[in-house]
Amino acid sequence: MVTVVAHPLLQHKLSLMRDIHTGVKEFRELASEVSLLLAYEAMRDLELTPQRLTTPLVEADFPMLSGKKLALVAILRAGLIMTDAIVDLVPAAKVGHIGLYRDPQSLKPVAYYNKLPADIAERRVFLTDPMLATGGSASAAIQSLKDAGAQSIKLMSILAAPEGIAVIERDHPEVEIVVAAVDSHLNEHGYIVPGLGDAGDRIYGTK
Ligand code: PRP
Ligand code: URA
Repeated sequence: MVTVVAHPLLQHKLSLMRDIHTGVKEFRELASEVSLLLAYEAMRDLELTPQRLTTPLVEADFPMLSGKKLALVAILRAGLIMTDAIVDLVPAAKVGHIGLYRDPQSLKPVAYYNKLPADIAERRVFLTDPMLATGGSASAAIQSLKDAGAQSIKLMSILAAPEGIAVIERDHPEVEIVVAAVDSHLNEHGYIVPGLGDAGDRIYGTK
């Protein structure tokens, strides 16, 4: 299932991210803000349980988060900016990292790092990567999470291509995808069109 978060604030910020004239500092700030708005939607179904609390006036039951604890997992390197932003919303979440880069010729993901919370099987996992292009990286990352025992996984991306969504739906049909937009297609180099360019390079200023 794919959820496109159509909120005007998010759409405005995404348009600014797409603009070639947006510099590194502003791009980073926008990526963090968009990640928070995506998380707001992705975490809409977190469980709440009434808990007895005392306000300055009365004692009463109020909703508090309950259910499974959370894990945020970043696909390095671009996913890091998303988990860094979201962890402020859910400070008790554990954070994992999956290092993958896309081989420029084959467009296949190459794994170089994996460090996940030991109790990942007991947590709801929110996997972050700003770009879902061919879907190779996200699919491989989801497989690593499953191999480590993860049972509940949501994928959060800023931009997706239809090709990437199709790969996740084929390989991991139970994984929900939350995105800010689904663009037109991939170009011959596997870049999302119209897209926003290379997310890692724009976040870290490496090009
Ligand atoms: C980018 C992006 C995704 C991947 C998406 O990472 O951040 O991880 O490409 O492409 P895919 O869906 O076709 O696999 P990249 O390989 O450029 O690595 P980086 O984040 O380290 O720059
Ligand atoms: N990775 C990116 O950073 N951008 C794309 O458009 C495709 C893959």
